[in-house]
Amino acid sequence: MKTANANHAPREDRVVSHVQAHNLKQKRILLIVGGGIAAYKSLDLVRRLRECGAGVSVVMTAAAKQFVTPLSFASLTQSPVYDELFSATTEQEISHIHLSRAADLLVVAPATANLIARAATGLCDDLATTVLLATDKRTLYAPSMNLRMWAHPATQENIDRLKDYGALFVGPDTGDMACGEYGPGRMSEPAQIVSAIEAALMHQTQLPLPQKFQSALSCDTTRALAGKHVVVTSGPTHEAIDPVRYIANRSSGKQGHAIARAAVAAGARVTLISGPVALPDPEGCQTIHVLSARDMHAAAIAALPADIFIGVAAVADWRVAPVDQKIKKNGASSAPALTLIENPDILATIASSPQRPALVVGFAAETQNLLSAARDKLIKKGCDMIVANDVGVTSDVFGGETNDVHIITSAGVESWDKMTKSALADRLIGLIANQCDAMGVN
Ligand code: CTP
Repeated sequence: MKTANANHAPREDRVVSHVQAHNLKQKRILLIVGGGIAAYKSLDLVRRLRECGAGVSVVMTAAAKQFVTPLSFASLTQSPVYDELFSATTEQEISHIHLSRAADLLVVAPATANLIARAATGLCDDLATTVLLATDKRTLYAPSMNLRMWAHPATQENIDRLKDYGALFVGPDTGDMACGEYGPGRMSEPAQIVSAIEAALMHQTQLPLPQKFQSALSCDTTRALAGKHVVVTSGPTHEAIDPVRYIANRSSGKQGHAIARAAVAAGARVTLISGPVALPDPEGCQTIHVLSARDMHAAAIAALPADIFIGVAAVADWRVAPVDQKIKKNGASSAPALTLIENPDILATIASSPQRPALVVGFAAETQNLLSAARDKLIKKGCDMIVANDVGVTSDVFGGETNDVHIITSAGVESWDKMTKSALADRLIGLIANQCDAMGVN
């Protein structure tokens, strides 16, 4: 005879199928919570999505906070809840663009008549509507409102318009309403919304840019840098410990070399100063091979004058005090102590040089506080632009084929979707060419 075991009995409220969990695992959902009585159900929606292994970020409207507290969502998602378009905290300054692009799918639940109307007309007067306008991903709406509001031609027209723009809808259900009436307008149950999310994710969720704007994003930079001299540093540096050993880092040089290639394709004369990498020299560049940071420093100064300097190399910050002979174990019980000496900062040197190029661009490889650390580098090193990327243990930037960056200038931050290093190189060179035009660099 079988006995009921409370720990192993399937709990009705925890029923997410294996297939569902598989389909949603590691998907990133941006949930926008509107101000409706059904907001409490969105807590359960978050819980179910998390059970399936999906990452959930939450944006709340001001009205939503009248129904459920941000703390409830923050506890369930274990991440901050976003609610302000203009926030004093630096990491949130980019949130409307970054949030809207980082997700695989946007979900609006509950989608009130007001939120639907504002999204349909392209209003962006708070974080939720700004994210909805700025996103390049599909949005799934779970409407929730009184039946008269739902039945109103204005609401129906707004919904048709959003569908024309590529939006998806789940529900509403018909049933008893909080206001005591009966009819269509109840937000779908969380389980149903999870199924709709799963179905939406089976298809491409990236929204194409309307045809007439596609050329604005194309990276046809042909001849955009004609007549300009561009100096690029790339790869790691090796710092000798003794005649046979060295200190290095994981940089592959793929990003720097791709940028040099993109600059050549844009018609520039390119000097590529490359640390030790396992890559062929890009065609059409003058490639100078160096080993150490000091060699790279000297080569960069020698390459001036230039119009544009792009410091992509992962330069070793320290070198070891010179040792002429191979360090031997000699039966000594303790390991040898290495004395480290700080290397010159190539980027800062070039940016403060009397021959300063018109545009100096650096990279920032960070494992924490990405944006604030990158901003500090922009100022400290005197650059015009910093390309910030996260090189933490979970990122595959070093050695990988893709990159996920934020472009930081004194004007602000622009976050780019993850893309191949070569696509990033083309786009960066396009941006640099536009910047040169704007600055009148001839
Ligand atoms: N850089 C440089 N010379 C150095 C160190 C770094 O030119 N000695 C350049 C890199 O090419 C990059 C930028 O400075 O464009 C930032 O490099 P990063 O390694 O992110 O930072 P660091 O300056 O080394 O500072 P920290 O290691 O403290 O983050």
